[in-house]
Amino acid sequence: MTAWHPLLFTHWYAVARADEVRAKPLAVTLLDTHVALARTEGGTLIALEDRCPHRHAPLSAGCVNGERLACPYHGWSFDAEGQLCEVPGLPADASVPPIRVRRFATCELDGFIWLRPAASGAEQPHAMICATDPDTRRFLWRTRWSANVVDAMENFLDPLHTHFVHAGLVRRDGKRVQARASFIPTGEGFTVDYRGMPAQSGLLYRLFESERTAERAHFAAPGSARLEYTYANGSRVLIDLHFTPRSAEETDVFVTLHVEGRWAPAWAVRLLAWPFLKRVNDQDMAILALQARNMRRFGDRNGASTSLDIVRGTLEQFWSQGALPAAPMARDVSMLL
Ligand code: FES
Ligand SMILES: [Fe+2]
Repeated sequence: MTAWHPLLFTHWYAVARADEVRAKPLAVTLLDTHVALARTEGGTLIALEDRCPHRHAPLSAGCVNGERLACPYHGWSFDAEGQLCEVPGLPADASVPPIRVRRFATCELDGFIWLRPAASGAEQPHAMICATDPDTRRFLWRTRWSANVVDAMENFLDPLHTHFVHAGLVRRDGKRVQARASFIPTGEGFTVDYRGMPAQSGLLYRLFESERTAERAHFAAPGSARLEYTYANGSRVLIDLHFTPRSAEETDVFVTLHVEGRWAPAWAVRLLAWPFLKRVNDQDMAILALQARNMRRFGDRNGASTSLDIVRGTLEQFWSQGALPAAPMARDVSMLL
C-alpha cells in the first residue's frame, strides 16, 4: 500500500456516477481507503468506512433500510452520520452502545458523487468543477486505468504522445506545426495555453471541428484535468477527466464532455464523437498499461525530461507533497505539434 501524503486526503475526489448510487450500496476505493456508498430512501447520501465495527463485514454488501445502512452479517444499522442505531436481537430495555463508523463528507456535482476522505479540509471541490454548468453536459462516462495517477494525468494533459499513440486520429507526426505553449500557474494548479495551432491534423478534428481560437489544458488539484477548445463562432467544448487513484497502480477516470453555445444534442455527440473518444481512450489505456508494467519490472519511476515535458513536475510535486509548488514559474515553451 502506498503512503499517500496526509494532505491528499483533505481534497475532494470524484468517486462514482451520481446515477449509480442508489439503495444498493457501492464499494468505492480512493487513496487505498474503502468506502460503502449508498443513497437512503429519502435521497441522502451515506458514505461510511466499508467495515462494520462489529465483526468487520463490508457494509457495501449490506442494504439500505429507510435512512440507514444495515450490515449484511448481523444487521447492525448505521445512519448517515455513522452512528449505530440498531442492534437486532438486543432486548428493548438494553441500550444501543455508542458506536460510530467513520463517515465521509460527500456532495454531488456535474453528474458525479464527490468525496473528501479526511474529516476536515477543503469545504468543497475545486472552483473549476464548481463553476461548470451541468446543463451543458452532453456526455458522462467512467473508466479505470491500470496506471499511477501522475502517469495517467500526464498522459491526458500532454499533447506530445498523440502523434504516436493516436496517430492519424488526433494528430499526425508528419504534419507538425510550430506552436508555443505558455505554462501559467493558477491557484488550483495550472493552465497551458497552446498557440499556433489553427486546426489539428487528425481525423477526429477534421470531422467535428470548426475554426478554433484557443486550446488550453488545465489542471485543478487534486485530480481534475480539462481540455478546453474555444471556437470563432463563440462556442466552447470542454473535455474533463477527473482522476481518482484507487491505489498507486490503479486510477478511476470520470469523464464528461460539455458543449456550450452550439447545436450538439447528447445523442449526436454519442453517435458521432463517442466511437472516436472510445478509441482514443483504448489507445491511452494500452500504452499506460505497458508503461506501468515496465515500471514494475524495473522498479524505477524517475524518467528523463526535456523542456517539452511541461506538466510532469507540478503533477509529481502535488501527488508526492500534497501541495502545489510554492513559487511556480510561468514560462513559454516552443514545440512542434
Ligand atoms: S459484522 Fe456487522 S453486524 Fe456483525
Ligand atoms: Fe492520449
